[in-house]
Amino acid sequence: MSGSTRTPTVLGLCSFTHDSAAALISGGSLTGMAEEERLSGVKHTRDYPAVAVRWLLNDAAISAADVDIVAYNFDRNRYLGGIAGSVPYLLSPVTRSRALPRAASFAVVHQRFRGRMQKLREAFPNARVLGTVHHKAHGLYAYAASGFDEAAVLVVDSLGETCTTSIAAASRIGDRVRYRAAETISDPASLGYAYGAVTGHLGWRRGDEEGTVMALAALGDPARFRDLLAQAIPLTWTGFALDPSLLPLRVLRSGWPRVTPAFTAATCPARDPAEEITQVHADLAAALQERTEQVIAHLARRARSITGAKRLCVAGGVAMNCVGIGKVIGDVLFEEVYVPPAPGDSGTAIGAALAAYRDATGVLAGGPAGSCYLGPSYPSFIPEAPPGMSARQVTQPARFLAAQLAEGKIAGLFQGRLEAGPRALGNRSILASPLVPDVAARLNAAVKFREPFRPFAPVVLADRAADYFDLAQPSPFMSVAVPVTGLAQDTIPAVVHANGTARVQTLDPEHNPFLADVIGCFLALTGIPVLINTSLNVKGKPISGTPLMALECLAASGLDGLMLDGGWWVSK
Ligand SMILES: [Fe+2]
Repeated sequence: MSGSTRTPTVLGLCSFTHDSAAALISGGSLTGMAEEERLSGVKHTRDYPAVAVRWLLNDAAISAADVDIVAYNFDRNRYLGGIAGSVPYLLSPVTRSRALPRAASFAVVHQRFRGRMQKLREAFPNARVLGTVHHKAHGLYAYAASGFDEAAVLVVDSLGETCTTSIAAASRIGDRVRYRAAETISDPASLGYAYGAVTGHLGWRRGDEEGTVMALAALGDPARFRDLLAQAIPLTWTGFALDPSLLPLRVLRSGWPRVTPAFTAATCPARDPAEEITQVHADLAAALQERTEQVIAHLARRARSITGAKRLCVAGGVAMNCVGIGKVIGDVLFEEVYVPPAPGDSGTAIGAALAAYRDATGVLAGGPAGSCYLGPSYPSFIPEAPPGMSARQVTQPARFLAAQLAEGKIAGLFQGRLEAGPRALGNRSILASPLVPDVAARLNAAVKFREPFRPFAPVVLADRAADYFDLAQPSPFMSVAVPVTGLAQDTIPAVVHANGTARVQTLDPEHNPFLADVIGCFLALTGIPVLINTSLNVKGKPISGTPLMALECLAASGLDGLMLDGGWWVSK
């Protein structure tokens, strides 16, 4: 920091692991955040987020030399605990064979860190490069985004250094924040690891397709494997454990199976991704999901009892389990439960920056509260129609788009700033009418190519949400699955999952005026204030963060048209 009164410029990074992202605090506020995959096109990229960083610096009109602090989303020294913590596993015949490989893998990660931090020092010559305790980055971001005064913060993920689960108490007086870790659970007890392990066993990519397993769970009977999952993930007084005879000790390298032969023998052979999905797969998914919900509920109760807080923030990859979050809300332990728009690791780019800024200044930077549209925008982009298509500027674009949707067209919407987090929330979305017969099949055939049991999510005007969804609180970021009403069952069954729920986005017009306008016009035409809202991408690709990616998505899919800023309509 050169001037005595200038606030530090802090770049937060999630990098070198998965879902790379960058965030910038400049002038005392968060100026933006972007997930690299949305700009580079490489899904879940682990690369240094070069494009996102370049955009952030350009946007703030600064250079790399102006960055005072680079805040990384892991703390190197904490990996050492994984080495020492492996020793006791030598004593048990069940874990003995993995104890030393586990210790060695923590040592490798610790060692690798040095080179990565050195590269960051070279890229930002005037900056201090600081590590951040991973769960603090998750938790501080969730708390800052919530806008709550006082809250319990529950972080549940796969692994942050050696920690897998944590509960903190957070409160603020003015812009000063108190964030106190109250309780932590360490690896190998990891709910994210367990869910990923079974996801992989069922033939989907862990760290990516857990949501597919969650959706499949609604078609299964949890009773068949209920006892097995209770044995695999036993509850403890303060949380839970994993049984290594079923879910073996983690080694931080590929090539180490995540379920044991005993688990396979008790369930089913590992499913090949191309293999048919049968009842046994649905039943295993159901038991896993049920157990996960029980563990999350147990942790939420624990968070309530040790912090006494009336509000809860949840972050970490497991917070993306919208069915589990729905159950926590249904338990009514808390007046409100908040999941930030980017609960997974990409959000720790913001959290690391917030933590470093707070350590340097004593205060919480402004900006994250309630914000999800944090990425780049392209307001002056003029699209060139791909071959065989036409581009034109329409007047009254909201009314035009609503009419297209009411006619049964499937349309992309690219407007404003890119969303943070896994959900498209109306700025990089595909919209469709829930009233069109076989709309899910059409969406799947046109663009999504998803398993037929996976539902599409609805977006509803917030003031009409209660007519269609049994909601105890707003769901602006699609982070909760809620039961639907009889009216929804009757009028918009396309967005209702097999278990009678929907992962709804409730839309406050202030947060996205254009999308609210589109839904308002659709309501006028059809009587229904609900649209299907899914992300603007084809299967296997990240959400289209740039207009060129959006146009590629249009060209490569069965989308009928794409609406861009300025009322540009590109259609086939
Ligand atoms: Fe994490």
